[in-house]
Amino acid sequence: MQGPVSSLEIIILAAGQGRRMASAKPKVLHTLAGRPLLAHVLDTAMALAPRAIHVVYGHGGEQVREAFPGPALNWVLQAEQRGTGDAVGCALPRLAEDTLALVLLGDVPLITKDTLKTLCARAAAGVALLTFEAAHENQYGRIVRDDEGRVMRIVEWRDADRAQRALREVNSGVLAAPAAHLRRYIPRLSAANAQGEIYLTDVIALAVADGLAVATTSPRCASEVEGVNSRADLAALERVFQEQQAAAQMAAGVQLMDPRRFDVRGTLTAGRDVQIDVNCVFEGRVELADDVRIGAHCVIRDSRIARGARIEAHTVIDGAEVGPDCVVGPFARLRPGTVLDGRARVGNFVEIKAARVGMGTKINHLSYVGDAMIGQGVNIGAGVITCNYDGAQKHRTVIGDRAFIGSDSQLVAPVEIGADATIGAGSTVTRDAPAGELTLSRAVQKTVSGWRRPEKPARPDKE
Ligand code: UD1
Ligand code: CA
Repeated sequence: MQGPVSSLEIIILAAGQGRRMASAKPKVLHTLAGRPLLAHVLDTAMALAPRAIHVVYGHGGEQVREAFPGPALNWVLQAEQRGTGDAVGCALPRLAEDTLALVLLGDVPLITKDTLKTLCARAAAGVALLTFEAAHENQYGRIVRDDEGRVMRIVEWRDADRAQRALREVNSGVLAAPAAHLRRYIPRLSAANAQGEIYLTDVIALAVADGLAVATTSPRCASEVEGVNSRADLAALERVFQEQQAAAQMAAGVQLMDPRRFDVRGTLTAGRDVQIDVNCVFEGRVELADDVRIGAHCVIRDSRIARGARIEAHTVIDGAEVGPDCVVGPFARLRPGTVLDGRARVGNFVEIKAARVGMGTKINHLSYVGDAMIGQGVNIGAGVITCNYDGAQKHRTVIGDRAFIGSDSQLVAPVEIGADATIGAGSTVTRDAPAGELTLSRAVQKTVSGWRRPEKPARPDKE
């Protein structure tokens, strides 16, 4: 870079209390797509590879600091929230002499790296502002230009008259300037305005009075610079973000039945010809291989689904691996540590936890399988339960290949069922069952012939 500016430092303003959120939680910790607003801004800031990132946080905002541990950030306490100008002023002493300062807002999460690069490129000579035309009625600061179109100043909405409020071009709150300029003007800001705050935006009029150039640039899309001030704003930006993710998935070859009813709160990697029905939620890191089909209303977190597997409607999968061509659901629940080998089937109202299920094994109805190792080609009948917990400790159940577990059996762990064993329906299995044999624990069935059901005494008035 030319001139006196030799590096970039980023200041993120995150000290405001966010009163309009009506929340006990600091605003920047509210989540968009499952991550704090500030995390989104930090990702973008880091992508610019600045010399330093300074986060201005508020009194009592220790929660914010604690949410982002590690040495990468320079935390600056603004003890009293006296306005955005004061907030930047708190960080300035930490910046190098010759640096370019980029000011980001912790409550403007969707800003992109490309937009910021363009902005920074325009700031070396003077001040560069990121402005935009908002699509709807708003209370952003208004950009006031002269007859030749030169920026004169920014008027905050609360301080603006009717004519100024009618101006379409508004301030995103994001700006870039050599730190030296900010050092010159910020100490001269006053709080003589409608909110009694020290406005960073007043730096513009001071720069203009000094004959400095004020450049502007705009993001490709207004949603990049929409700020979160209320829960309604947050919900609106969540939709924008989700629709962007949906569009990216479709561009990569995923068929979404309705991109407006699709939520990714984390990272979703999908192969080709994946189909996702409506109202599915993906959390954490989820990988879907080619030809996977996900039915409506599924929630999938931190899991891998292999090629050709089908997840039917209303299934919840967390921390599991589903092998190729498996069919899971409808209404199944796979909990952490579940591994299904290829072509396994898990049907309705089946819960599986910390268990490996072998190739082609079927657990089709109403079962609980926990802490188990199940071989290949096993058939687990309806209502089978592994009794894995004795009230103090968990125990393992091992089931050999091709075993058949009759319906409504309880396998009291620790217990092992041998390969090709058959367990008769309704058994309570408390000891190991040998391979290849029929094992059952069941009262012997008997028939009492001639037995009669009791009859109700006849009621005379009915006759
Ligand atoms: C600000 C801009 C406005 C712009 C809008 C865009 C000013 C005076 N106004 O208004 O022109 O249109 O953003 O979203 O800059 N903060 C601090 N310390 C403070 C005050 C605020 O750290 O003392 C932080 C907040 O946490 C927030 C950001 O600065 O992340 C913006 O503050 P906020 O009060 O939301 O400003 P707006 O009224 O939205
Ligand atoms: Ca704001």
